[in-house]
Parts: sequence; C-alpha cells; structure tokens
Amino acid sequence: MKRIVILISGRGSNMEAIVQRCASEHWQAAVVAVIANRPQATGLAFARERGIATAVVDHQAFASRDAFDAALATAIEAQRPDLIVLAGFMRILGDAFVRRYTQRILNIHPSLLPAFPGLHTHRRALEAGCKASGATVHFVTPELDHGPIVIQSVVPVQPDDTEHTLAARVLASEHRIYPQAVRWFVQEQLRIDGGVVRHTGGAPQLLLEP
Ligand code: GRF
Repeated sequence: MKRIVILISGRGSNMEAIVQRCASEHWQAAVVAVIANRPQATGLAFARERGIATAVVDHQAFASRDAFDAALATAIEAQRPDLIVLAGFMRILGDAFVRRYTQRILNIHPSLLPAFPGLHTHRRALEAGCKASGATVHFVTPELDHGPIVIQSVVPVQPDDTEHTLAARVLASEHRIYPQAVRWFVQEQLRIDGGVVRHTGGAPQLLLEP
C-alpha cells in the first residue's frame, strides 16, 4: 500500500480527481494526508469530508523560506509518504527537500513543458499565438517546472479562446492525466532513464484531446 501525500494551495480539483480515481479504481494506495500552505485553501474541506488527514503549514507564519521548508518537511515526513503529489501547490520547495525525495515528487503544470514554466501560462500561450497547449505531469527537480516528463496532454487552442476558457479546457485534461500518472507510480510502472520517463508496459504517455 503506497502512502500518498498531496500538497495544495487552493481549490484542489486535481487532488479531488486523484482521491476519486484512487478509490474508484481500488489502487493499492491511500491518500494519507492533504497539506496546504494557506489556511483558506478550499480543497481542505473535500479532504476532511473524505476523512483524509489535513494540515496547514502557513508560509506567512514563518520568517524565512528555510523555516517554512523545515516545518513543511516535518509535516510531510510525519506521514511517511512513498509519493508526494503537488497539485496546484504554489510554493517552491527547497533544494534539500527535493533532493531527499528525488523521483518521489510529482507536479502538474498547465503547459506543454518546457514551454511556459512559471505563472500565467495560458495568457502567455495565447499571446504567443500557440495553436495547441496542454498540461504536463513531471517528476520534480530543484529547477522550477522542470524534470522528467511522465505524461503530457495536448489541448487545441480555439481562435476565440480567453485565458479563462483555455484554462478550463486544460484543467479538464489535467484531471485525466494526473490520476493516470499517479496510478502508474503506484503500480511501479515508471522508469527514469537519463532524465526520460518510460512506462514499462509501453502505455502511451501522450493524450491528444479533441
Ligand atoms: C492547475 O491548473 C495546476 O496545473 C496549476 O494550478 C491549477 C491548480 O488547480 N499548477 P487545482 O487546485 O488542482 O484545482
């Protein structure tokens, strides 16, 4: 039974998608805790309703990034996770922490990495005139929004798209690929070789959305 800890900052819809797929598909795994860096993170309510342990490590309560990182690490380690899932978690984790959990932290980013790391991805994709965008699930390395890619989804950009409509289309796709990536991890079907992730059974690591 793999122990999963999910980190959120807000709505937590990706967290919900993972919790639901874990239950409905009877993964050999449990989401043992949901930890937020903001007390107002609305996703915490869903976790509580599901009987999942929750914790808040409020970054504003710490004088330094190092102190926040240390408190967050303590909260996570108390759960003895096999996997840490960043799901809309808007803080950068410290290098030492990331290295300690190397190949055991996943993140989702709403762009086709390595394009558009960082914030305002949809606005930037529209401004660049992209005809497609998408989402990427990757293993976390110390570099922001960078690391071995587990799965990507490609979503068409419509001519009349706004930041909002594109974000909604990409988010729906995130809810398909993130649970898939976590499931592969739980089933030990991912191999990282030279910075490239392969599914050991040859499953497609690309989802083309219509
Ligand atoms: C998602 O688009 C995720 O890719 C990005 O922030 C958003 C979080 O949404 N990093 P939610 O909290 O999972 O609903």
